[in-house]
Amino acid sequence: MIRASVERLCDFVGQEVEIQGWLFNKRGKGKLQFLLIRDGTGIVQGVAFRGEIADEDFECAGALTQESSLVVTGTVREDRRAPGGYELSLSSIRALQIAADYPISPKSHGVGFLMDHRHLWLRSRRPHGVLRIRDEIVRAIRDHMADQGFVLVDAPIFTPNACEETSTLFDTEYFGQKAYLSQSGQLYMEAACMALGKVYCFGPTFRAEKSKTRRHLTEFWMMEPEIAFGDLDDAMNLAEGLVAALISRVLERRRDELELLERDAAPLERVIHGGPFPRITYDEAFEILHAAGSETPFGADLGGTDETILGDHFDRPLMVTHWPKEVKAFYMKPDPDDPARVLGVDMIAPEGYGEIIGGGQRMESLALLEEAIDAHQLPQQAFEWFKDLRRYGSVPHAGFGLGLERVVTWICGLDHLRESIPFPRTMQRLAP
Ligand code: 4AD
Ligand code: MG
Repeated sequence: MIRASVERLCDFVGQEVEIQGWLFNKRGKGKLQFLLIRDGTGIVQGVAFRGEIADEDFECAGALTQESSLVVTGTVREDRRAPGGYELSLSSIRALQIAADYPISPKSHGVGFLMDHRHLWLRSRRPHGVLRIRDEIVRAIRDHMADQGFVLVDAPIFTPNACEETSTLFDTEYFGQKAYLSQSGQLYMEAACMALGKVYCFGPTFRAEKSKTRRHLTEFWMMEPEIAFGDLDDAMNLAEGLVAALISRVLERRRDELELLERDAAPLERVIHGGPFPRITYDEAFEILHAAGSETPFGADLGGTDETILGDHFDRPLMVTHWPKEVKAFYMKPDPDDPARVLGVDMIAPEGYGEIIGGGQRMESLALLEEAIDAHQLPQQAFEWFKDLRRYGSVPHAGFGLGLERVVTWICGLDHLRESIPFPRTMQRLAP
C-alpha cells in the first residue's frame, strides 16, 4: 500500500493509498459518512458508504470523535468541489485512539483560552497557516544569506555581559557567578566577521521586557548579519534586499496560507514592486511626525504610534538613520559630520507593524569605544574581549538584527506577536 500525504494526493489519482492522521471534523447520515482527515500537510475529505466497506469499519467511522487518531485507506479521486481538489473513497478505517472530549471546537474561543491550549490549538487552521509561513520565511532567510555569501556562525545564549539595555537583561545563576541570557548575538558576530568576512547568526534572544504591547516577546528569534569592511549603506542595502526577498518568497510559495489568514496581498506586492525603500534621517522623520501631530519630543526615541505614522506616510517599509546617540546602544559609530548622531538604522514596516530591523555601523576606534562603555555605565572588564577586536586589525563594520516574529506578524497580517511563534513567552505567559 502506498503511504501518501494529503498535500501529494495529486500524484496518486485513481490509486489506493493509506493516510495517517486525525479526525478534523465529520458529518454523516444513514449509509454515508464524510470524514475530514488532517495529516499535518493538509485536510482531505474521505467518503465511506455502508456496504462498500466492512461493517466494523463503518461503525468505527461513527465512533470517531474530533482529533481521534486514525489510519485510513482509500482511492484518490479528483473532485473540483472538494477542499484541496481531491477526495478519498474510503476502503478501510482504523482508529488508533478515540480522543476524549476535545476542548477546541469550531465555535470561536477567546485568544486567552486558545493560548492556554496552545499545545492543541497548533492543530487548527490559522496557527497551521502561520507556522507554514514562518517556516518559509526562515528558509528564505537562510537561502538569501547563503546566496549573498554569508556564513552562519551561531552565537552563545549564556553570556557574561549585556549587549543592549541592561534594564532588559535576564540573569541566571551560573556555577557561583552570574550569567545573562543573550539579548543579541551582535558582539559575537563582530568577532566572527573579523574571522570570516560576512557572517550571520540566527537564534533565540531574550529581553526582560516589562512591556505588555503586542510587539514585545521576552523570547524571540533574531537574524543578525555582520559585514567586515561594511558601512551603514552596506547594512541598509542588505536589509532592503533581504526583506524584499522574504516577501517575494512568501507570495510565490505561500499564497494559500495568506488567503487562509485573509491577508490582503496588495500591500505586500507594493513592497516588492514599489521601487526602493525610502531612506530618511531622524530629523526628517521628525518633520513628518510633528506635521502629523505627534507629541514625541525631538531627541527622544520613536514610540509605536510614531512608527505607525511614518509607516502610513510612506505606505511601504522605510529606513530611519542618523539617530541621537542618547537613544541608541553604546556600540554605534558616531556620525563623523555630527558626533551627536550615530550611524544607526531602524527599518519600519508599514500598516502599523513598526520596527522590524535595528542596526547600523559599529564603532571601530578603541578609544571611542572605551568612552562609550563608560558613558553607558557598563563595566570595562566585561568588554575586554570585545575591545580586542579594536586592538587587533580593527576595520569598519556594520550589521543589523531582524526580528523574526515582527516580520512573520507583518507578513501574515496578525495583530499580536504571540501568534507568530509556536509557544510565545511574554511577561504574562510562560506556559504551555
Ligand atoms: O533593535 P534591537 O534591540 O537591536 C539589536 O539587538 C542589535 N544588537 C541587532 C544588531 O545590530 N545585530 O533588536 C533588533 C530587532 C528589532 O528591530 C525587532 O525586530 C526585534 O529585534 N525585537 C523584538 N522582537 C520581539 N520582541 C522584543 N521584545 C524585541 N526586541 C527587539
Ligand atoms: Mg531597536
